[in-house]
Amino acid sequence: MAAAALLLLLPIIMVAVPAASAGGGEKSTHIKLYWHDVVSGPSPTAVPVARAPATNASRTGFGAVVVIDDPLTQGPDRKTSKPLGRAQGTYIAAGKDEVSLAMNMNFVFQAGRYNGSTVAIMGRNAVFDAVREMAIVGGTGVFRMARGYAQARTHTLDLKTGDATVEYNLYIKH
Ligand SMILES: *[C@@H]1O[C@H](CO)[C@@H](O)[C@H](O)[C@H]1NC(C)=O
Ligand SMILES: *[C@@H]1O[C@H](CO)[C@@H](O)[C@H](O)[C@H]1NC(C)=O
Repeated sequence: MAAAALLLLLPIIMVAVPAASAGGGEKSTHIKLYWHDVVSGPSPTAVPVARAPATNASRTGFGAVVVIDDPLTQGPDRKTSKPLGRAQGTYIAAGKDEVSLAMNMNFVFQAGRYNGSTVAIMGRNAVFDAVREMAIVGGTGVFRMARGYAQARTHTLDLKTGDATVEYNLYIKH
């Protein structure tokens, strides 16, 4: 009965949805950029601020909290690529048996058409997975009412220093 009713409504739903989104001015935006976690050197952009007594003995760093103000650039080379903004927030080593970070970041755009706008990203980042998906839970400026998802792929990881460059693709409805 419910299924039959849904079938009857389907043409109405299909017509109504595009009309509603056109009226609301909802946009879909895809942004690709590179996120640089600089933990080494004289001016790190990712600083550990807390750890549990058991963190040192943990294979996964469980219990560590890191505050970041990581540069975001258009291309993968941090020094030569166009700066787009910063990723400000924290990540927490939240995996006891595997390396898995709980990310809490604002992508703060400081150049181009999104200058002054932000996107809030939260989610699980199992850093050794090829693709990690996180939620886009909101935004400001151009990205007010944003929702969507981000996909992260490691571009380079220096196992000696811990420095990492990660490609982020943001798929945003706003
Ligand atoms: C963990 O290791 C760091 C660096 O080696 C050291 O400074 C710190 O005292 C250790 N913490 C604990 C709780 O063992
Ligand atoms: C971004 O906006 C700020 C504030 O309006 C402005 O000062 C700055 O020059 C802009 N940056 C770029 C790269 O356009």
